[in-house]
Amino acid sequence: MSRLRIRNCGPLQAELRVQGSKNSSLPCLAAALLHPGTTVLEGVPMIEDVATAIEILRALGAGVWTDEGRITICANDITNTRIPVQYMKKMRSSAVFMGALLARMKNAEAVYPGGCVLGNRPINFHLEGFQRLGCDVAVQEDVIIAKTSGMTGTGIKLPFPSVGATENLMLAAVGAEGTTMIENAAKEPEVIELARFLNRMGLEVSGAGTSKICIRGGQKTHDIHFCMSGDRIAAGTWLLCCMNAGGSLWLDNVPVSWMRSTLSVLEQMGASLRIDGTRLECTAPQKIRAVKHLKTAPYPGFPTDMQSQLLPVLCRADEDSCICETVFSSRFCAVRELVRMGARITVDQEKNLAWVQGGVRLHGADVSAPDLRAGAALVIAAMGAGGDTIIDNFYHIERGYERITDTIRILGGEACWIC
Ligand code: UD1
Repeated sequence: MSRLRIRNCGPLQAELRVQGSKNSSLPCLAAALLHPGTTVLEGVPMIEDVATAIEILRALGAGVWTDEGRITICANDITNTRIPVQYMKKMRSSAVFMGALLARMKNAEAVYPGGCVLGNRPINFHLEGFQRLGCDVAVQEDVIIAKTSGMTGTGIKLPFPSVGATENLMLAAVGAEGTTMIENAAKEPEVIELARFLNRMGLEVSGAGTSKICIRGGQKTHDIHFCMSGDRIAAGTWLLCCMNAGGSLWLDNVPVSWMRSTLSVLEQMGASLRIDGTRLECTAPQKIRAVKHLKTAPYPGFPTDMQSQLLPVLCRADEDSCICETVFSSRFCAVRELVRMGARITVDQEKNLAWVQGGVRLHGADVSAPDLRAGAALVIAAMGAGGDTIIDNFYHIERGYERITDTIRILGGEACWIC
């Protein structure tokens, strides 16, 4: 069942605990392959992408046990180095299992990954990095076969600070002899979290969070118990939901220091924010202020993963707004669906800009989630719209948001599945 009807129930007055970070959990689950022993991860969100990562671990020979947000992985025996096609096609971050497999098994085989279609999403930086480390990489039709007789640490300069390539190359480089330096590395919090995880496991990674990451390979690993941070994108999504529906929202488990750019945009829009450690209270303004010009950018810039969710909120702003997407070549797929709900947004494909007309109240409609974050934008739109909204292809949203129907209800909305 993948059609959900949402009815907005007015201004929020709610408290919510933010789920653990999806984008940190996935590379850490892949990293568990590096250790021929037991790894315990706490605070992992129970979402579709995590379920896919668990299936990959099992297909490779690891034992995996789940108990709510706790996942225990026993990777003593890795018996397979081919990542099954169905999982590679389901989510893009399955590619990070390749780096971990190369470090542990010297072999990895996979097809090109699927996941959200946000324009052209090659993995050439990943594969070129593997080659620099001393792997042979052959591509036969859609199948990538990477193998090595032994990797050697080296310098790798990324053409763009790709999050996935940085993580994949960190994972591969821990299996190389000597030191690897990744330059122009992604500085995203998820890269910092992966480095923390690897260091706790006994590996040596320094510089994560800066553009130069240094990995000293060939170290021994040991059992660990690691707790994931809160999800900065899920937190931002629910804050924007509050801005759209009005009222107040208390969030717990918020990685506040990793959300500066999002919080600053919310304040520019008129939100009143009160922060107390990892707790954050947001009160929506009576009138939302437009965002004259905002560009998405790699961290610490405004996250591309928050861009879609901002659009429905800007529809009700006092003036027109303009958003420029600079990370992905085609990420305004929420627009077509929001227009069905009454939004007046125009996209300049060439310049990768969206112009959002302010002063527009959205109404319920039949829409379809084109991808994960565009789907989240439709949930936000539905929670502030007049009338019912039916969102088809809801499974896209479940890939990234834990128990989302419960969350909608906690926020005061009505949610019911439709056959
Ligand atoms: C990760 C996040 C995703 C987020 C994105 C940017 C996960 C699971 N996903 O995706 O939610 O939107 O970071 O913050 O963590 N590129 C290449 N060649 C490559 C790799 C990337 O050209 O080999 C380009 C991409 O097409 C894109 C840009 O680099 O234009 C950024 O992509 P990247 O940072 O790699 O995103 P992901 O790791 O896929």
